[in-house]
Amino acid sequence: MILVVDFGSQTAQLIERRLKDFGATTLFLPPENILEEIKKTKPDGIILTGGPASVYGQSSPTIDLKVFTLGIPILAICYGMQLMIYLLGGKVTSGKKEYGPSRLKVTNRHRLLQEVKAQSTVWMSHGDEVVALPNGFETLASTDHVEFACVADSNKKYFGMLFHPEVEHTEEGDRILRNFTKMTGTEINEKKIQIEPLIEQIRQRVGNEMVIGAVSGGVDSTVAAALTAKAIGKNFFPFYIENGLMREGTAESVRNIFKHVGVKVDIVRCEKEMMRRLKNVSDPERKRKIIGNFYIEMFEKEVKKLQLKGKKITYLLQGTIYSDVIESKGTKHASKIKSHHNVGGLPKNMKLKLLEPVKTFYKDEVRQIGRILGIPEEFVSKQPFPGPGFAVRIRGEVTNERLKKERVADRIVLEELEKAGLLSKIFISFPVMTGSDSTAVKGDGRFFGEVVALRVVESRDVMTSKWSHLPYDVLQSISSRIVNEVPGISRVVYDITTKPPATMEWE
Ligand code: XMP
Repeated sequence: MILVVDFGSQTAQLIERRLKDFGATTLFLPPENILEEIKKTKPDGIILTGGPASVYGQSSPTIDLKVFTLGIPILAICYGMQLMIYLLGGKVTSGKKEYGPSRLKVTNRHRLLQEVKAQSTVWMSHGDEVVALPNGFETLASTDHVEFACVADSNKKYFGMLFHPEVEHTEEGDRILRNFTKMTGTEINEKKIQIEPLIEQIRQRVGNEMVIGAVSGGVDSTVAAALTAKAIGKNFFPFYIENGLMREGTAESVRNIFKHVGVKVDIVRCEKEMMRRLKNVSDPERKRKIIGNFYIEMFEKEVKKLQLKGKKITYLLQGTIYSDVIESKGTKHASKIKSHHNVGGLPKNMKLKLLEPVKTFYKDEVRQIGRILGIPEEFVSKQPFPGPGFAVRIRGEVTNERLKKERVADRIVLEELEKAGLLSKIFISFPVMTGSDSTAVKGDGRFFGEVVALRVVESRDVMTSKWSHLPYDVLQSISSRIVNEVPGISRVVYDITTKPPATMEWE
C-alpha cells in the first residue's frame, strides 16, 4: 500500500489515480496524526503531495519529523519536496515562480529515472524553490531555471521533485511514478474499469426509491444517467432543462441519446425566466449561484409534478466527476478555485438526496465507462460544456444580444475545427465575449466593438491543459468568419496560456 499524504494540491488526487491505474493500493490522508496512521497501516511507500502553502507560512501544514526515520521510501512532490528538504536541513527560498511547462534534463541516471528521456517536458506550479540540499542528497535532474528539479537520497530512498509527475502534460510522469512504485516493492498490474459493480452500487443505494435525473447533454450526466437507467430502469426520470445557455441543438441531441439509452427524457423550457434572473448580474460566482439555484428550483417543480402523478422521488442524479469536486475544494488543505454549479452552488435546504455515481472518476475514465455502456463514440468523445453554459463565456452581464453573438461565434469555431479535421484532438474550444472593446474599420467607417478571445485547449483529465497549436490558416478562417458574420465584433485574439496557471474557462 502506498500512502498519499495530502497537502492540498489541485492535482493531489491524480497521484492516487495514477497509482491505482497500475494496480497499487493507496490510502489518501491529511498530514495531521500521520505517524499513528503509518504505524497502523504499515505502507510500503509514502508520497507527499504538493500544496498551495509555503514552508515559511505560519499555519502551513507540516509532517512529524519521525516519518523520516522509519526506513519507508518517500516521494515528495512540489510543496512536499520543499517541506522534506526544509525539515531535513536543506534550504528553501521564495525564489523563482514557475507555472506551466519546463524542460527537464536528466543529469544522473538513477533507478527513479530509468528509461526516462534525457530531456522531456515537465509541468511546474510552484512559488518557492529549493536552493540547498540536506546531507546525503544529490541532483538527478535540472531545468533551465531550477538546479534541484529532481533530487534523491539514494540510501534512504527519499526522492523530491519540484514538478508534478502526476499530471498528463509531464511527459515522463507516469514512468517516474511507476519506477517509484516498483522501488516500494509493489507489483505493477494495469487496472480495468468494471461497470457491473457501479450499477450494483446504484441498485443497493436506491433500492425501490425513485430518481430524477439532471441531464445536461454532456458526457458526464449522460454516462451517470445510462448507469442509473441500467440499475433501476423505470424508476428513473431524466429531465433536460433548456435554460437558453446551452449550445445550439443540445435539446435535440439529448432526445436522441436517451432513445439510445432506452429511457424517455423530458425537455423543460425556461429560457426567458433564466435571462430575467441574470439581468444586471456580472459577477461570475453570482452567475453560477443564480444558475445553480434556478436549476434546482426547476427540478423541485418537476418533482412536485411527478408527485402529483403518484411518484415519490427521493434522489437527484448528477453527473459530478472528480475534477469538479477537487476544484470546489475537495480536501482539507486545498484552495477553492471556483464553485462548480453542480457542487458548491447547491442550495443548503435542498430536499432531494444526491446520487453521483461517477463522482470518483476523471473525465477520460467517464468516457471509457460510456464506451463500455455502448454509447456512440461521437457522443462519448464530445467536448465538455460547463454547467453554467455560455454565461461563464460572456464576461459581464449576459444579455440576449451577447448570448446570440456567443452562440453564432461558437458554432463558427466548431464548424471550422471540424472542417479542418481537428475536433478529435481538442478537449474544449470556445469563443469568449471578453467585455472589452477595440477599434475596427469596417467598410469605410470606424467603429468600436467587442473583442472575442478564442480558447482552444488539449487535455485528457481536465486538471492541466495546453493551448492547441492550431494551423495559421484555421486560425485565420475562424477569425475572418467571426468578424464578418457576428455583428459588433472588432477583433479576435488567441489565448496562448497553459493550465496552470490559467483555467480553461475565463470565469
Ligand atoms: P476550468 O476553467 O476549471 O475548466 O479549467 C475545467 C473544466 O470544467 C468546466 N467548468 C465547469 N463546469 N460548472 C461546470 O459544470 C462550472 O462552473 C465550470 N467551470 C468550468 C470547463 O468547461 C472545463 O471542461
